[in-house]
Amino acid sequence: MASSAMIMFWMAMMYITLSRMKAVSASYQYPDEPYINFTTETNHTCPQGCSTCSDMRYICTSLNVSTVLQTFPITLQYLQLTDIPSVLDIQNNTFKRYASLRYLDISRNRIESIVQGSLGGLWKLEYFKISQSGVIVYNYFQKSPSLKDMDNKTLCDLKALKYLDMRGNNMMSLDRIVDRLRAMTKACRNCTTDYLDLSYTNDVDVKNAQIQSYTLKRAKMAVFKKLNVKVLKLDGNHISSIEHGFGVLLNSVKYISVRANYIKVSFWQDGNIFFLVNFLIMYNLKVVDMGGNAYLPIKVSHPIHRRSNYNMQIFPANLEEIYADNIALTKEFYFWDDDICMSTPNHLKVLDMSNTIVAGLGASLLGLYNLTYVNFQNSKIIFTDPNALNCKNFPKLQTLLLGNVDFRPMYTQLNDTVSAFQNCSTIKSIDLENTNYADPRVNTFIDMDNVRYINLSNNGIVSLDIDLHNNWNLKLLNLSSNRISQLPKLMMSQLDHTAKKAKENQTKLVVDLSFNPLLCGCGQQQFIEWMKTTRVKFYNFESYRCLRNTEYHLLHTLSIKETALMCKMTVIVSISSSIGVMILVGILSLVIYAKRHRLEYLWLMTRQMVRRTLQTRKQPDDYRTFNYHGFLSYSSNDDISIIVKIQEKIEEEFGLCLVIHQRDFIPGELINTNIIHFIEASRKVIILMSNNYLESRWCNFEFELSRNKRLDATYDTMVMILLHDLKDLNKDKISSSLKSYLGQKTFLQWPKDSSQNPAFWLRLKEALDFGDVENGTDDDDGTDHTDSTQNNMIENQDEGYPGAELIQLDIEPRDVNAFHYDGVLHDDVVVHHNDNSILMTVDAEVHIDDDIQPLL
Ligand SMILES: *[C@@H]1O[C@H](CO)[C@@H](O)[C@H](O)[C@H]1NC(C)=O
Ligand SMILES: *[C@@H]1O[C@H](CO)[C@@H](O)[C@H](O)[C@H]1NC(C)=O
Ligand SMILES: *[C@@H]1O[C@H](CO)[C@@H](O)[C@H](O)[C@H]1NC(C)=O
Ligand SMILES: *[C@@H]1O[C@H](CO)[C@@H](O)[C@H](O)[C@H]1NC(C)=O
Ligand SMILES: *[C@@H]1O[C@H](CO)[C@@H](O)[C@H](O)[C@H]1NC(C)=O
Ligand SMILES: *[C@@H]1O[C@H](CO)[C@@H](O)[C@H](O)[C@H]1NC(C)=O
Ligand SMILES: *[C@@H]1O[C@H](CO)[C@@H](O)[C@H](O)[C@H]1NC(C)=O
Ligand SMILES: *[C@@H]1O[C@H](CO)[C@@H](O)[C@H](O)[C@H]1NC(C)=O
Ligand SMILES: *[C@@H]1O[C@H](CO)[C@@H](O)[C@H](O)[C@H]1NC(C)=O
Ligand SMILES: *[C@@H]1O[C@H](CO)[C@@H](O)[C@H](O)[C@H]1NC(C)=O
Ligand SMILES: *[C@@H]1O[C@H](CO)[C@@H](O)[C@H](O)[C@H]1NC(C)=O
Ligand SMILES: *[C@@H]1O[C@H](CO)[C@@H](O)[C@H](O)[C@H]1NC(C)=O
Repeated sequence: MASSAMIMFWMAMMYITLSRMKAVSASYQYPDEPYINFTTETNHTCPQGCSTCSDMRYICTSLNVSTVLQTFPITLQYLQLTDIPSVLDIQNNTFKRYASLRYLDISRNRIESIVQGSLGGLWKLEYFKISQSGVIVYNYFQKSPSLKDMDNKTLCDLKALKYLDMRGNNMMSLDRIVDRLRAMTKACRNCTTDYLDLSYTNDVDVKNAQIQSYTLKRAKMAVFKKLNVKVLKLDGNHISSIEHGFGVLLNSVKYISVRANYIKVSFWQDGNIFFLVNFLIMYNLKVVDMGGNAYLPIKVSHPIHRRSNYNMQIFPANLEEIYADNIALTKEFYFWDDDICMSTPNHLKVLDMSNTIVAGLGASLLGLYNLTYVNFQNSKIIFTDPNALNCKNFPKLQTLLLGNVDFRPMYTQLNDTVSAFQNCSTIKSIDLENTNYADPRVNTFIDMDNVRYINLSNNGIVSLDIDLHNNWNLKLLNLSSNRISQLPKLMMSQLDHTAKKAKENQTKLVVDLSFNPLLCGCGQQQFIEWMKTTRVKFYNFESYRCLRNTEYHLLHTLSIKETALMCKMTVIVSISSSIGVMILVGILSLVIYAKRHRLEYLWLMTRQMVRRTLQTRKQPDDYRTFNYHGFLSYSSNDDISIIVKIQEKIEEEFGLCLVIHQRDFIPGELINTNIIHFIEASRKVIILMSNNYLESRWCNFEFELSRNKRLDATYDTMVMILLHDLKDLNKDKISSSLKSYLGQKTFLQWPKDSSQNPAFWLRLKEALDFGDVENGTDDDDGTDHTDSTQNNMIENQDEGYPGAELIQLDIEPRDVNAFHYDGVLHDDVVVHHNDNSILMTVDAEVHIDDDIQPLL
């Protein structure tokens, strides 16, 4: 995922073809054309290339001309002359004839220049569209040929102009256009223009040099104030900063769009979120669209102030919609870590932060009581507080889109009392697609009594158990692409219940179960029958396939009766055959039990033979450096005959050399010196464990010593023989290290009946055997197993931040400013604050400047 977000962003940008782009889903729309009453128009026959022709309007989209025809009726109010294949020459006084025009669209034509007087006479013109379509490649607009210039005074003729669309004239340069507009305000002091689309007009400056970054200056913005602009679009103009104080100059604006620029969003300034400072005085502002400004100011010059109380933010009172999608924002690594409270009253309804990189939303956002639409889809946001989405803070919320956000950090904190979407009774649509919600809590949707659309697709859900009793208005439950093989009984009856309620309201409950590994074996008879008879409608039911034994079937073609019959047969056959198998198994186990010691002996023999052949090649080097093969550690109070038996067996039959303390200890030396010396000189220590052994101080000393003997040894240095049952050992005397030893390692048990003796001696020999004694005992297998699951768990945790490489940096918060990156980061880094450490992950290729000023 490293930098893939950014790449996708560029890819998206590259293929955007700009034709007639409407305002994003913003509710504030300016009409596209003036109202003209056409009911009295007289239609004419249209020439080729025109579609609508009358005394009042001509709509021509591919007229084969090279100049503007002078044969249209002079009463024309509406003229569209677009997509003319040849170069269109706009002569002096071309439009003088059409003094009634209120709407003129000459977009997507090859006009090279507009000379002085070209627009003369258009004194009634309200709508002037001269936009271009093209493709953006690496942030530059591709369009040729393109309008290069427009005479200084051209716009002065348009005294009634309300709507100017110059989008995509990339060679015009924003400065030149602003100059033309200024000339216009000079020529007509009381002229105003409501709508200005100057997007993608700024690839070159006034000297025709390519622009890398552009600062929108106060001097330039003054013209917008003079014109009393209400809609201002400045997308894709390479704007990297807007001079402070723009709030005063843009305070007539209701809708501003600065998408796809390089505006550095410096979030905190004087304790306020950046845009608020200027935006506060823009009391007409309703919509801000600043999507696609993908710069991440990582270094800031002032520290974060953590406050225990709410962090109060003054919020523009009339702002209704914020589009901050496809953007990298941080509030110095953290967007909000304490609760933030927006000042009220406010009117914020729409918050779109999709595809946005925001590190860490630790707490709740308060005060947004009018919020109805929230979109966090595809964003890199880490929610940690289950309360963050508690709708008591958003009592009007209707749409909550969280698709493709990793919510694991939050889900893990949920339980029966703490639920994620509490109080969300106004929600109508909730998108939880691919949020790693593999185990949705029963109470997840319990408060959403108005919900209509639930998207739980792509979450790896295996078994679904959610309470839908309150969701009477549910229309679509999207469970596609999960791992559901069947629904539990309770779920079926709940869906039935909901579907019944929906029917009363004349709607249908649709459940999407496509792309799930459904089963239709005998265990799923009830489920299949339900699917085929329920009132619930399954989306794309004809395509559902299900697995029975090893075959896939189309679910809707399965016959319930046949299935039932087949399953009965299977049951009979399987019962009769399983009885036979049980009898056979019984007989076999009886035989095995009777011959168990013999069998074990044979097994051990075979194993040893195999080992011996394998080990002859590989003798450990240290093997010959010991004087003794083994140190026999035992308590003298134990049955001496057993000890002698063991000693004789090892020394005489196996031909090994033992240390027996009564026999071999050097007289006159201290006991502990003796013990240390001989244990060191022995390759292994053989412990005869018993309650007497546990009582003895020296024995315990020997045990501890041998446990720590050669920690680096590649073989087991200790062989333990229990002289009585493990359960008979005195629990109070067992030391913790012995306990852990007994828990981890295999030990031998002194046989209670002589039939087990041969096997015991074989095991002992094997345990004493030279060469690497491998750890392939059952117990060790067990330990290995837990190890590997632990590894798995660790891997899974890493997946918590998909694609991100987690780097733990131990840095004091005050050192945060020490972060200094030059150039481009390729790893994903998102940043968290803990008390003493910072966990960082940044996504995307981000350029980070050292000297980021608070620019907005
Ligand atoms: C349009 O003009 C016709 C004829 O003058 C008139 O009857 C009609 O009411 C007008 N429509 C509107 C919406 O003004
Ligand atoms: C003229 O043409 C327009 C569109 O082609 C049509 O909607 C309108 O009804 C026509 N008017 C008359 C009077 O035929
Ligand atoms: C356009 O008009 C020119 C002459 O005016 C003619 O040569 C050309 O073939 C025409 N093109 C089309 C596509 O009709
Ligand atoms: C256009 O006409 C104006 C006067 O109406 C004249 O000043 C100007 O030079 C003319 N421009 C061209 C390119 O002919
Ligand atoms: C147009 O304005 C620019 C500067 O704004 C000036 O350099 C240029 O001479 C002007 N052109 C005309 C024809 O007045
Ligand atoms: C601008 O002022 C002039 C008189 O100074 C007036 O005739 C004209 O109608 C005004 N235009 C607008 C758009 O208010
Ligand atoms: C929500 O908006 C309404 C008007 O739309 C306003 O009267 C009210 O004060 C707002 N509520 C809050 C808490 O800001
Ligand atoms: C939110 O839900 C909780 C638990 O259901 C309830 O106690 C609380 O009163 C609710 N708050 C609001 C503002 O509805
Ligand atoms: C989930 O489904 C809803 C409606 O069914 C849709 O609006 C939403 O975009 C889907 N989520 C994603 C991530 O596509
Ligand atoms: C649920 O989790 C919260 C903390 O997240 C804890 O305080 C609470 O006791 C838990 N409740 C149950 C029933 O486990
Ligand atoms: C369910 O969600 C998936 C993934 O977003 C989508 O492709 C599918 O169309 C949705 N189903 C319905 C019925 O909307
Ligand atoms: C369904 O009916 C109930 C009452 O019968 C009503 O409160 C609810 O709003 C209706 N829902 C829809 C979607 O019509």
